[in-house]
Amino acid sequence: MVKDAWLQDIPGGPLLDQVLDATFPRWGEGLSRQAYGSWNKAQGLTVWGRERLARVGLVRGAEVLVSAKRYLFDAQAGDRPVTVLGIGAVFTPGGLRGQGLAPALIDAMIEDGRARGCEVALLFSEIGAEYYERLGFQTVPRSVLTIDVPRNRLGAPATLVRAGEPQDLPHLVEMSSRYARGAGFALHRPASLIEFGLLRRRMLAGLGPAGLRALEFFVSEEGNRAASYIIVSRGPAGASLVECGDYDPAGARVGAMLEVLAAREPAETDRTLRTWWPATFRPPQITVVDAAPSPEVMMVRHIQGAPVDYSSVIYWPSDVF
Ligand SMILES: CC(C)(COP(=O)(O)OP(=O)(O)OC[C@H]1O[C@@H](n2cnc3c(N)ncnc32)[C@H](O)[C@@H]1OP(=O)(O)O)[C@@H](O)C(=O)NCCC(=O)NCCS
Repeated sequence: MVKDAWLQDIPGGPLLDQVLDATFPRWGEGLSRQAYGSWNKAQGLTVWGRERLARVGLVRGAEVLVSAKRYLFDAQAGDRPVTVLGIGAVFTPGGLRGQGLAPALIDAMIEDGRARGCEVALLFSEIGAEYYERLGFQTVPRSVLTIDVPRNRLGAPATLVRAGEPQDLPHLVEMSSRYARGAGFALHRPASLIEFGLLRRRMLAGLGPAGLRALEFFVSEEGNRAASYIIVSRGPAGASLVECGDYDPAGARVGAMLEVLAAREPAETDRTLRTWWPATFRPPQITVVDAAPSPEVMMVRHIQGAPVDYSSVIYWPSDVF
């Protein structure tokens, strides 16, 4: 432990301002500093965020030495429920780096997570695997697919596609949970978590410069209920299909929806999207043109309890933090 510094939740006030001032240049996403503060606050006010997301840090007196975000996820390890400690946005201000503050914070968070019953610590490294391997984390290999929506010579299919609504969420939960069945490791994705992912991206698009980002949430409807859905995030890094689901196991309806949406922009030549899909999910209309290791490295560390099998993991881009 770092002398005279303690792990604290940082819900607001001057300590949070310190953290936001320090992290803004790195994670500001093109927002103004004020909008960055609003975006962070709003995430904490969502139903899921209120209970499951917190900013924490090692604090000495009135100074935050190092900070991070703590997420608490429910998940399954095989058929066993587990609680997962998510560690995000680890940040040590420039002048304080190289003194082991980040490892001390991670240790303190894991200790705290153990007391909360967490069995697994999970993070997505933006700085490669090596640093966190030294801290006891292991990599869970994960590919990003580039998919293409080839032109359908018969024209767009006659699929009823409409904007997604809050009342569709229970159907999304049901579709999403099907992919998790039998997986070695998968998050439990209640409506509040799916909504959190939607709101986080929607607010980022709304708070940022006009036209820079957009979030699209569509469902296809059959018998008055959502039969498939897609959530597409567009921004400076291109277009990502951050999650999707289909009562058809192979995803034929999702393929048809992507064709319908591509047909809205007939002049657009680049119809590719980045995504991740479960191995069994392969809409017949869609071509996978590339698979590359994910730039954010998924890493896990055992905290307590029985070991987890990471050879078959279900993890949607929506839930990467
Ligand atoms: C990464 C970071 C949290 C480390 O914090 P710290 O309190 O200085 O922790 P340490 O004292 O263990 O860090 C020093 C080590 O970090 C490593 N490190 C820092 N930035 C790194 C990077 N971009 N890639 C790989 N390693 C990095 C240094 O190589 C150094 O290794 P050394 O021990 O062999 O000298 C800090 O550099 C930081 O806040 N960086 C900017 C934000 C960031 O990238 N966060 C991680 C997001 S996944």
